Amino acid sequence: MKNKIKELFSKTKCNTIIIRNFSNFSDPHFFYFTQLSRETYENNFLILNKNKKPLIICSSLEGAGIPETKNYSVKVISNNKDFVKTLKTATKSKIIGLNFEVFPLNALKRLKKILKGKKFIDVSKELEEIRSIKTKQEIQKIQTACKITEQVFSQIKELFKPGMTELELAAELEFTAKKLGAENLSFPIIVASGKNSAVPHHNTSDKKIKKNELILIDFGVKYKNYCSDLTRMFFSGKTPVFLNKLYSEVMEAKTSAEKELKAEKNYSLAFEKANNIIQKNLGQKLMHDIGHGLGLEVHDFPKKNFGDKFILKKNMVLTIEPGYYNKKIAGIRIEDDYLITEKGFKKLSNAPKKILEI
Ligand code: GLY
Ligand code: MN
Repeated sequence: MKNKIKELFSKTKCNTIIIRNFSNFSDPHFFYFTQLSRETYENNFLILNKNKKPLIICSSLEGAGIPETKNYSVKVISNNKDFVKTLKTATKSKIIGLNFEVFPLNALKRLKKILKGKKFIDVSKELEEIRSIKTKQEIQKIQTACKITEQVFSQIKELFKPGMTELELAAELEFTAKKLGAENLSFPIIVASGKNSAVPHHNTSDKKIKKNELILIDFGVKYKNYCSDLTRMFFSGKTPVFLNKLYSEVMEAKTSAEKELKAEKNYSLAFEKANNIIQKNLGQKLMHDIGHGLGLEVHDFPKKNFGDKFILKKNMVLTIEPGYYNKKIAGIRIEDDYLITEKGFKKLSNAPKKILEI
């Protein structure tokens, strides 16, 4: 991360950056630069200074658990006076960078009172650029997260029993993933059976999954903080021919989108290609974007809006996930994860050619 911090300061006009967590929200950059495992570190500060070791300011709740490394120093504070003194000492430069994308206005007002006379600037774009390009270690972690997810999917025949609810199946998947080394889920698992599959972000429910139903499962795990995100289709019985045909058509859209993945190409070309095929084959436009960045967060950088132009760069990691949704029939989505390379892409996961029968 030392190189990433150096690169970050080469892009910004400030010599100090404050990254902080809040009571109910953490800034993923805190975990990016410290490499600490996620979930706790409420209200902790991370101070980045050009040419200096990063400093974590925390309370005694976390202090004892932070591993000692040469990557950062730790100051455990005991009271507010101690905190103010520590913060002032650690932020000597006149201009201070903050992640305005997540920094609440009230927290900024309080910070301005403590650090009077400083100029605060937004460094969210620079942080985003840094995090968009994954390091070798990050790629390996995402790859492991994908592998665990695929291993869980490979056990679904044993985990699924007709009559179980969507929530019960989701619980089995989560339990199996954790036994295989996942720390957590990337997001609450979507198990959408029957007509529920036509709702792209269906809330996994207490609906029983019967025999001869289509099941859409959108599922990802976190491994050492890094996410996977895969969507697979299953059928609890013998898959009707028309559903496998729909699946092949969505797969064709996905394959055509993949062909547009390459460093320096526009990500929106992938959307256009898939959209054209879905429209030609199924008479419908894509209901949602073709994919998103993947990393510390399931919707990670690169972040873009629906259909936006976006130039891909080597070592970005993202998803491709076209879907077809018809409330009268069902929904089909197929999602895999990709590493962008100079020549094209490397698949980090690999969806089957057909709907899997369970
Ligand atoms: N897997 C959930 C999503 O990408 O929206
Ligand atoms: Mn996704």
